[in-house]
Amino acid sequence: MHGGDIYTEGILKGKALLDFSSNINPLGVPESFRENINEAINNLDKYPDIKYRKTIEYLKEYTGQSNAYFLLGNGAAELLDLSISLTKKLLLVVPSFIEYEESAKKWGCEIEYSYLLPDFTIDYKDIKNKLGKCDGLIIANPNNPNGACINTEEFLDILEFGKNNNKIIIIDEAFIEFSGIKEYSVAKYINEYPSLIIIRALTKYFALPGIRFGYAFTSNKSIYERIKQIQLPWNINCFAEVAVKHVLFDEEYIENSNKWLKEEKNYMINGLKDLSVFNKVYPTNANYILCELKEFNCNEFYDLLFKAGMLCRKCDDYVGLSDKFIRLAIKDRTSNEELLKCLRNDRTSRFSNRNERN
Ligand SMILES: Cc1ncc(COP(=O)(O)O)c(C=O)c1O
Repeated sequence: MHGGDIYTEGILKGKALLDFSSNINPLGVPESFRENINEAINNLDKYPDIKYRKTIEYLKEYTGQSNAYFLLGNGAAELLDLSISLTKKLLLVVPSFIEYEESAKKWGCEIEYSYLLPDFTIDYKDIKNKLGKCDGLIIANPNNPNGACINTEEFLDILEFGKNNNKIIIIDEAFIEFSGIKEYSVAKYINEYPSLIIIRALTKYFALPGIRFGYAFTSNKSIYERIKQIQLPWNINCFAEVAVKHVLFDEEYIENSNKWLKEEKNYMINGLKDLSVFNKVYPTNANYILCELKEFNCNEFYDLLFKAGMLCRKCDDYVGLSDKFIRLAIKDRTSNEELLKCLRNDRTSRFSNRNERN
């Protein structure tokens, strides 16, 4: 299951749901893209540049990685999938985005797990030990569903091991911009560690899931060529090209997004911590919050929230998590307020009945 299935219970049944399962920036499609959409319309009658030279130039400028090799994908999902296809035995740091495992299974990769520690921090020693028996590692920075970033200093030991033993290290940075801190990215090591491949997208922070645009960068020519060889030509359309050109440099959008998240993250974390329905509310470097339920299981919680017209992400299908976990997106103030109000029981009496007994 993924978050964000607003179709099955919402749109297809004509219901408007408030979706806390999907982690998209609530500031929405950047104005800089809307204003320039005609550039894409005017290019609809031409094939894009098969080498996507301009798009790659913009990505080099945005990431500051002028020497790296860039690959473009139909969302981060395409590049995650193709990177995983290069491995035979993949180490997954779990709980994590369930697509990694789906993709590994599809390609016939063997899977090894490194579990996060009980406080959901990364067990760096365990990763290094297990990487010896694998040829690849995939880890998200920040991780989904808990939102914690990699400690890049501690990760160096793993990178060194990967470099000396020819391992592929895939870092999914689909949510990295939400951390608000450039130094949290592993990209700063890309030139020193040829085992590294970093994957990002316009999907989450720039609120463009419909564009389906992701990119990967690495200093490893062989990794680059192996992926390039199995991609289809012209896999990126002209709308995505125009989006890259404008949104990555939209300073106003970036400033407003960082301001929104700073304020709303505090508001939501504090609001959720005040509720007795949760045992624990985990800290996050992303735009979503992992919560451990006290009495309800995630199915009961989901159903109650659904009755109030809202969706959350149940976490019982994540390897390493039980049915006591749910994940909530951080949205705009009005929506966040509505969720907190509902959980305080303005709209669903069962929440309060349970709470009163605690
Ligand atoms: C951690 C993570 N990586 C990648 C993706 C996929 O991104 P895209 O929609 O760009 O393919 C998701 C989507 O939910 C995700 O949660």
